Amino acid sequence: MLRIKDINHVIYQHKDLDAIEHFLTDFGLVVAHRTEHRIYLRGTGPLPYVYIAERAESSGLSVIAFAVESLDDLQTAARFPGASGIQPLEHPGGGYRVTLHDPSGRRIDLVHGIEAVGALPQRAALTLNSAEEKRRFGDVQRPGKGAAQVMRLGHVAIGVTDMVRMLRWYRSILGMLPSDLIVEGDDGNCPAAAFLRLNRGATWTDHHTIALFQAGKDVVHHASFEVQDFDAQCLGHQWMTEQGWRPFWGVGRHVLGSQIFDYWRDPSGNLIEHFTDGDLFNNASPMNHTQACDSSLYQWGPPMSVEYFLGGCSESETIAPRPDSLRKRTAQ
Ligand SMILES: [Fe+2]
Repeated sequence: MLRIKDINHVIYQHKDLDAIEHFLTDFGLVVAHRTEHRIYLRGTGPLPYVYIAERAESSGLSVIAFAVESLDDLQTAARFPGASGIQPLEHPGGGYRVTLHDPSGRRIDLVHGIEAVGALPQRAALTLNSAEEKRRFGDVQRPGKGAAQVMRLGHVAIGVTDMVRMLRWYRSILGMLPSDLIVEGDDGNCPAAAFLRLNRGATWTDHHTIALFQAGKDVVHHASFEVQDFDAQCLGHQWMTEQGWRPFWGVGRHVLGSQIFDYWRDPSGNLIEHFTDGDLFNNASPMNHTQACDSSLYQWGPPMSVEYFLGGCSESETIAPRPDSLRKRTAQ
């Protein structure tokens, strides 16, 4: 079985690299390297890049890359139907990749051997006093203003036209495990949404690394990046707002995965998310089924905009499962 360690990076295409650099640095990513046609942005973790912005005539996500545990895993991947051979990566830090395509034609790179870089200074997680449990004594809370420090890429959410095929592919080829399925009625075989985690055995891993949503077309809904804690997220929200960016949806807390979320739309129209405090599952965690309804998406936060369901799509190509009750409400 292919052993995937984590999601590694995404490659987005943009027409205007200056505009996206401005946005992403306010979002909390750090420019690590630049060429005429690419900007490599990193988080505070040890990877040399987690987001590659590439100059192109059209905009959108072009590659999702996962790091595998070893060269043996790349050799396994290279034997999958339609896989490329093992090829050197053309980015800073070197390494190797095998390229696959999921049933929608989306490019998935499996990578290994990228040279780590030194981590950037990162504010430590705050020590919080709850009403019941006091943990901070004689010390003050001063997280400091500024952009949220992005630490790592956490997950990508994708709209899919053929849920059954896509779910089968991500489970059988990438070995992912469903954490939660959103179903409408009794049809668990073709869920409205599927939240898939990596299979890392007994090791705890994010509740979802890929989320699939039934949609009118195959399109990326959002990529999500982890920040240290709730204060980082709120201070990052304030920073983005002060720089003139308009909040898309957040700050709030999701239900499935429990992450505290904050969504923004970049200058090219892509959705991007800060998250913190997500659930961790392992191979002993059960698969859960949830009925689609208003309350399946968030526990608290600002009212959800109908635009969230549209993602990068037109009205007729709704991206996320859209409960009937919300459909009625937004039609009013
Ligand atoms: Fe997300």
